[in-house]
Amino acid sequence: MSTSLSVITESPSSLDVDAVVVGYHAAASDAPQPASGAHDVDAAFSGGLSRALAQLGARGAAEEVHTVPTLGALKAPVVIAVGLGDAPAEGEGVDPDTLARAAGAALRARGRDHARVAVALPADTAERAHAAALGALLGDYSYTRYRTGDDTRSPAAEIRVVSAAAGAQAAVERADTLAGAVNLARDLVNTAPVDLVPEDLAGIAEQVARENGLAVEVLDEAALHEGGYGGLIGVGQGSDNPPRLVRLAYIHPEATRTVAFVGKGITFDSGGLSLKPAGSMDWMKSDMGGAAAVLGAMSAIARLAPAVNAVGYLAIAENMPGGGAQRPSDVITIYGGTTVEVLNTDAEGRLVMADALVRAHEDDPDLIVDVATLTGAQLVALGTRVFAVMSNDDSVRDDVVAAAAAAGESGWPMPLPAELRSGLDSAVADIANVSGERWGGMLSAGVFLKEFIAEGVRWAHLDIAGPAFNQGGPYGYTPKGGTGAATRTLVRITENLAADRD
Ligand code: BES
Ligand code: MN
Ligand code: ZN
Repeated sequence: MSTSLSVITESPSSLDVDAVVVGYHAAASDAPQPASGAHDVDAAFSGGLSRALAQLGARGAAEEVHTVPTLGALKAPVVIAVGLGDAPAEGEGVDPDTLARAAGAALRARGRDHARVAVALPADTAERAHAAALGALLGDYSYTRYRTGDDTRSPAAEIRVVSAAAGAQAAVERADTLAGAVNLARDLVNTAPVDLVPEDLAGIAEQVARENGLAVEVLDEAALHEGGYGGLIGVGQGSDNPPRLVRLAYIHPEATRTVAFVGKGITFDSGGLSLKPAGSMDWMKSDMGGAAAVLGAMSAIARLAPAVNAVGYLAIAENMPGGGAQRPSDVITIYGGTTVEVLNTDAEGRLVMADALVRAHEDDPDLIVDVATLTGAQLVALGTRVFAVMSNDDSVRDDVVAAAAAAGESGWPMPLPAELRSGLDSAVADIANVSGERWGGMLSAGVFLKEFIAEGVRWAHLDIAGPAFNQGGPYGYTPKGGTGAATRTLVRITENLAADRD
């Protein structure tokens, strides 16, 4: 059951809901101060909200949450008060990302019985109403498919965003669409890999395409063999569950530009014969996070309908060490003819991505953006919350980093040093899939992918290995497990390209 999201303008103090979310700011030596949006509630408490929060030890730090019983002061039984950090400077509003994270933290803290929630955060502009709604929907996410107890948490039945801002309705609808896309990507990552073999993921992509009016084409293993997709075939041949290549297309009649997305869809990465150690393997169901982001983004793009064409490829395989598995030292032929010596079967992502990247050129795109949980080295370089952005064009790279920030995500520019190419020289084939160079593994992977981009084609590569999956505790609007990382960035890139058209 999905959440019904609406915008309302009435005072939260008289609303028939199960919880009211309000914000408060840190105040230097004083008790925390109610944020705008919370004043009605404070008045209903006869000005006592700030005192109650002080008595609970609240400081106003961002994402700090306290639930306060209303004991009849409000129609709702509880107020969920969330810290927003320091009050904004005179004439300025709360930063939208702060607001989104606070809304997420507040919704995570709601009781299971608090099914109807009013969000009375400082949503005084459409942008902030968007942030409050998006954070609330993303923070309310939970993945319950495999829970059998009757204490299973379901999504809030209703979230009402209190805002009188012009354009709030459209902004909140957009938030609903984006949250649906991100939560779809999270669901796919969280699904146990036994329930999401390549055929399953391709089937879900077909279903999402049907629901959103996207064109879809699926190449099965016979078609992949026939077409010469040696990367997908090579990686998939150690598994009983054969690979797939999915192509989704959104076409706008007035489009003058085309963007192509390519997502890594390794439904499980055991490493293959270059087997991973157990501790590195237990989260490898997240290795299709790139494909999940592409599918989620395509679903949102179809709904938002920007004037641009968008094509999405999902390069899907399961990397297993079965009897037919590719061997270290095998040579495969990528779609289009480049030969690769597979020295390490755990560097499989770049092989399936190579096939799909070459294929994506056939759509004659103005820009190719690929998204992949490609390297452990990404985690070493940038940690778990910031993805890497590499490109064959510095301005494209900077645009993608800016698009991520505008979408509320965190990407950081990384180089593709030309000198790393020689580390990938193979004694027998055109290129090897791992580098003889010990350092800069994330960059070497990017340099490998660059080999499959034609001269003059603008391309960016997002390594989301860390950000795709949260192994730690939840924070802000980010749950444990699948995060949906890069989904919103891809939507933003598409919209920017639409706005750009001549
Ligand atoms: N899927 C992994 C990368 C990864 C690691 C994603 C940790 C998420 C979290 C990828 O297929 C892989 O195994 N890469 C190897 C490459 C190496 C063999 C050159 C790696 O990074 O160790
Ligand atoms: Mn691997
Ligand atoms: Zn992998």
